[in-house]
Amino acid sequence: MAKSKKYDINKLTLEEKILLLTGVNEWKTYSANGKVPQIVVSDGPNGLQMFDDDNNRKSATAMPALSLVAQTWDKELAYLDGETIANDAIENGADILLAPGVNIKRTPLNGRNFEYFSEDPMLSGVLAREFIKGVQDRGVGTSLKHFCANNREKGRRVQTSEIDERTLNEIYYRPFEIALEAKPWTVMCAYNPVNGVYASENKKLLKGVLRDKLGFDGLIVSDWASVQNPYKSIKATIDLIMPYNELTLDSVKEALAKGNISMEEIDYCVENVLNLVEKVQNSTPKMNYNKEQRHQNAVKIAKAGITLLKNEDNILPLKDGGKYLVVGDLSETPLGGLGSAYVQTDYVQEPVAKLLAEKLPKSEVGYDRAACACASWAGSNRIKLEYAKRVYTEAYEKDAVIVFVSGDTESESFDRSHIKLKKEYEEVIRNLARYNENIIVVINATSAIDMQDWIDDVKAVVIEGFAGEATNEAISSILAGETNPSGKLAESFPYDLEDTFTGDDTGNGLVEWYNDGIFVGYRYYEKYGIDVLFPFGHGLSYSEFKYDNLSIEQTGECDFTVSYDITNVSNVDGAEVSQVYVKDVFSMVIRPEKELKGFEKTFIKAGETKRVSVKLDFRSFAYYNTALDKWHVENGAFTVLVGASSADIKLTGKININLDDSTQQSQALVGR
Ligand code: GLC
Repeated sequence: MAKSKKYDINKLTLEEKILLLTGVNEWKTYSANGKVPQIVVSDGPNGLQMFDDDNNRKSATAMPALSLVAQTWDKELAYLDGETIANDAIENGADILLAPGVNIKRTPLNGRNFEYFSEDPMLSGVLAREFIKGVQDRGVGTSLKHFCANNREKGRRVQTSEIDERTLNEIYYRPFEIALEAKPWTVMCAYNPVNGVYASENKKLLKGVLRDKLGFDGLIVSDWASVQNPYKSIKATIDLIMPYNELTLDSVKEALAKGNISMEEIDYCVENVLNLVEKVQNSTPKMNYNKEQRHQNAVKIAKAGITLLKNEDNILPLKDGGKYLVVGDLSETPLGGLGSAYVQTDYVQEPVAKLLAEKLPKSEVGYDRAACACASWAGSNRIKLEYAKRVYTEAYEKDAVIVFVSGDTESESFDRSHIKLKKEYEEVIRNLARYNENIIVVINATSAIDMQDWIDDVKAVVIEGFAGEATNEAISSILAGETNPSGKLAESFPYDLEDTFTGDDTGNGLVEWYNDGIFVGYRYYEKYGIDVLFPFGHGLSYSEFKYDNLSIEQTGECDFTVSYDITNVSNVDGAEVSQVYVKDVFSMVIRPEKELKGFEKTFIKAGETKRVSVKLDFRSFAYYNTALDKWHVENGAFTVLVGASSADIKLTGKININLDDSTQQSQALVGR
């Protein structure tokens, strides 16, 4: 660990050293009696969540949730997202943004899925890496979190995530490994135990894996109040225990006296704190967007992430001159995620009905907020019937009805209890469909929704996710055809919860056994041949794209460039997310049917053709071999699959890997 050049550890008393290893309150580090400048940390992944001295939330730009950023599949927009939030951080004096979270979306029930990117480790890691660059290029630090395997909220402070070594490396470490390429200033440990030891005390995890194996050389901060026993966490190389932990001083002094911790171990963490302080002091935070520009950035990202899942009879975009009815109050005040990622914005959104009327001036756009309440509304049946009769009468006369719905609450601290829409929303959709065949459903949710009870009754489904203060502008622009949707799902949407591996199993309270292993998300559904409602990587456009002319060029021993043409054969400019998957045809270990190893989002004008290239390298073909304890590529045949989604493969090609025999294990001759 490099010694800080600016702050001399030898000028600190023992007490000052120990107290430097915990915050001085919820959000600030200790000043060591003025010897060391304090650092201010603040959430979060979906925008700045900061509190003033009276503990009131400050307003900031409510950005699209990271789950929606993931649906953009756009590295530049992930960067822009981080950059934009950094501006709010600088404006409010935060030195470090406690984001991004890259926990894998292993179960759609996880309450914090809105804060995370994907079920796929590469998509998660790459977008997190760009987000981190966006924040840190503005001179603000980040905290890559939560290391690791915090994949549901239930029992997060108690229940161990029991995971085998290969799965940890290929699925749960992997997004961190990729994101570490951006050199986040800090990494935050998870609440949960991993394989029986709290992440905050797990030296193998924090020192052995994060630092020594993955090469992280920054500061490890605990999740808030995740430290059970300060000296044990410091021994595991938690450098900063947050928030202020009153047990720290006595715990460390006592352990020192008993020889349960050494001065070297303490100094190791103190140096990491001093190095972080130096990093903050040496940075020159520089804003580059004013408040309006930050809002526009939010709108740009939201427009690129909102995903069109179904569009029967090309009912979308809405035609100008039609008669439409917008139903549901979520079209006025959309939901966002709750907990530490919540963002208080002072931006007042215009209702979707109003925005649509402006964008479609020849149209008649009605609005009824109450419809979605009438089914569950506490009002008398007579009034409910009146509401119902009125809304459905209105609907009957329209060319199309756009109904805004949501699922179970998405929040930190608890998981969703189901993955359907709220009951009253399902009822309203079915009722509306009785009176109008052109129903468009807009889902204000961020993780998989079971739609099987109503999807056949509707013509179109759009998932708007949690888009923050940009929600209404972005969804209106897409519905009106001003914006051509280009988002794609970053998680699989199963038909129902029973089709997922975890189902409603939430562990036994002490242990959640990850015996799905590496088969998470599409890896699971494809391995077991389970159909899903909408596959990973799925998303429709108002354009139509054709793929051809695949070429695979070998540029090194294990390096290839996969290139292909995409032609926009429609008359609408659009952007296409193409995905490159790799399959190991023969292997001495079980492997997924295919794995995402590259992706590009390409803007293509109507009638134009663009050639896209994706590079594959050793890690594109490797699996984690626990006998060798390293990433390993077996020689032999691999298939490259280029798709518009994981289930819509457009082009395939073959590669033969032939690495030097010295790198290979003796292999069964079958298939060679
Ligand atoms: C919370 C979250 C973490 C957040 C921290 C500070 O419990 O787990 O993501 O950054 O505490 O609010």
